[in-house]
Amino acid sequence: DEEKLKNFFIGSIDQGTTSTRFIIFNGTGQPVAQHQIEFTQRHPESGWHEHDPMEIVDSVNQCIEQAALVFADRGYDVADIKAIGITNQRETAVVWDSETGEPLHNAIAWPDTRTKGLVRDLKEKPGADNLQNMCGLPLSTYPSSVKLVWLLQNVEAVKKAYDEGRLAFGTMDTWLLYNLNGREKNIHVTDVTNASRTMFMNLHTVKYDDTLLDFFNIDATKVKLPKIVPSSCPDSFGCLAEGTLAGIKIAGCLGDQSSALVGQQGFTPGSAKNTYGTGCFLLYNVGEKPVISTHGLLATIAYDFGRNSKPVYALEGSVAVAGSGVKFLMNNLGFITHSHKISDLAASVDNNGGCVFVTAFSGLFAPYWIDDAKGTIFGITQHTERGHIARATLEATCFQTKAILDAMELDSGHKLAELAVDGGMSNSNLCMQTQANVIGIPVDRPAMRETTALGAAIAAGFAVDIWKEFEELKEINQKGRMIFEPNITKEESEKMFNKWTRAVDMCRGWLD
Ligand code: G3P
Repeated sequence: DEEKLKNFFIGSIDQGTTSTRFIIFNGTGQPVAQHQIEFTQRHPESGWHEHDPMEIVDSVNQCIEQAALVFADRGYDVADIKAIGITNQRETAVVWDSETGEPLHNAIAWPDTRTKGLVRDLKEKPGADNLQNMCGLPLSTYPSSVKLVWLLQNVEAVKKAYDEGRLAFGTMDTWLLYNLNGREKNIHVTDVTNASRTMFMNLHTVKYDDTLLDFFNIDATKVKLPKIVPSSCPDSFGCLAEGTLAGIKIAGCLGDQSSALVGQQGFTPGSAKNTYGTGCFLLYNVGEKPVISTHGLLATIAYDFGRNSKPVYALEGSVAVAGSGVKFLMNNLGFITHSHKISDLAASVDNNGGCVFVTAFSGLFAPYWIDDAKGTIFGITQHTERGHIARATLEATCFQTKAILDAMELDSGHKLAELAVDGGMSNSNLCMQTQANVIGIPVDRPAMRETTALGAAIAAGFAVDIWKEFEELKEINQKGRMIFEPNITKEESEKMFNKWTRAVDMCRGWLD
C-alpha cells in the first residue's frame, strides 16, 4: 500500500549529455533527494564534441554522495534504498585499455560530426543498403559504430590496443558500470537498449552480428564488446563498490530515451513520448516486433524487462538539437543568463517575426538525415530582435517533432491521439503550446518531469521485486498533468510548417 511504498527507495543515476543527476525516488515514484552536476563540453574542432570519461565518473560519484547527504538530512536511512538504476546518453563511444582500465581517448559524444566523410565513404560500400534492415539505424554520424571506426583509424593508442587485443569499447552505461563496480571486478555489460544504438547488434536476434561487425571492419576478437543483457535484471550489473551507498545493487539500466518511455509508462503499443533534453527524441512503442522505418525514422529497442518477457521495440524520431539550441543562445550569443529564461525572451514578441532557425548544428537528424546541413537563420530583417530568434529556436524542435510524427504515421499507419512530453524544454508553456499548435493534437505534460530517471528506477525496482506488474505503477505521476490543446487553425499551422520545410530544403549541401 501507499504508506509502505513511501518507505522503499530506489536511486537513479541519470548520465545525460550535458549534466549528471542522481535522484532517489520512493516507491510511489516521488523524488525525495537529488543532486545535479553539469560537466565540460569539449569542442576541439568545429563539429567535434567530446566528454572526459573520468570527469563523468567523478560527476556520478559526487552526485550520489551529495544526494545521499540530502536524503540523510531529510531523516531517511540509506539502508532503505533497495536498488539503483542507471540511465545514460546513448551512442557516445568510450574506449579504454582493458588491462589498466584507463581511457584511451575522450569519449566521442553522440552529436559529433567528425565522421561525416567516413559515413559518405561507407555509404558506397557493398552491404550498406541492408544495414538498416538488420540493426534499425540508418548509416549516419550518429551511432557508436562510426565513432569507434574513427578512433581506430585516427588514434594510435587505440589502434595499438586493438592490435594487441586489449581494447575495451562501451557506451556510457558500460563505462559507468565498469567503474562503479570497481575496475577489478571486470564488469563489462550493456543493456539491450544501449546496444541497439551501436549498429553492431542485430535488432531481430538481439545479438552482435558478424555481418554488421564485418561491415565496419571490426574484429570482435580484438576488441572487448560488452555482454548484452536485459534492462532490468538483479544479477548482471553488480553493485556500487564505494561511497555512502556501497553495496547497493545496480538492477536497472536503460538508454535515456528508453528510460523516459518507461518513466512515462508507455508500455502499450501505440503509446509515445517526446523528451526535450539536449536533443529531442520521440519514441513510439510498436510492441514485440521491430518496425523498420521507410520514412527516415529509427527502429530501436524500447526496453526489455527480462525474466520471461520479450524485448519491446520502438520507432524513434531523433532531433539532434533542442536544449543545446537554447544553450547556444545563452553561451555563444549571450541572449540569456539561464536556460529557463528562454521562455520569457520568446514571449517578449508575439510571433517569430518571419524568422526560421534551422538548428542543424550536427547536420539534421530524423526524418531528414542531412549530414552536411549547417545551422541557418532565415528571414532576418532590421525588425528582428533576440525574442524572434529565441522563438524560432524553440519552434525548430517543434517543427522537427511534427515532421517525425508525419513520418511515424506513414510507417505505422496510426495517427497519435496525443503526445506525452518531458525534459527541460517542456517546462516552457510557450514551447509546449507551440508544439500542440504545430502538430494539431494535445500535448500532455506530467507534473514531475524527471521521467528519464524514473524509468531506470522502475527497471531497477522490478528487478528487486518492489513491483511485479506494470499495473501497480498506474498511480505514479498522474496528478497535476497539464494538457496543451491546439489553439490555432489548421491553415495557420500548415503555413508555419511549410515555411520550415522550405528552410530545410535551402540548408542542404552547405560547404565546409
Ligand atoms: O541519443 C542521444 C540521447 O540519448 C541524448 O539524450 O537527454 O542527453 O539529450 P539527452
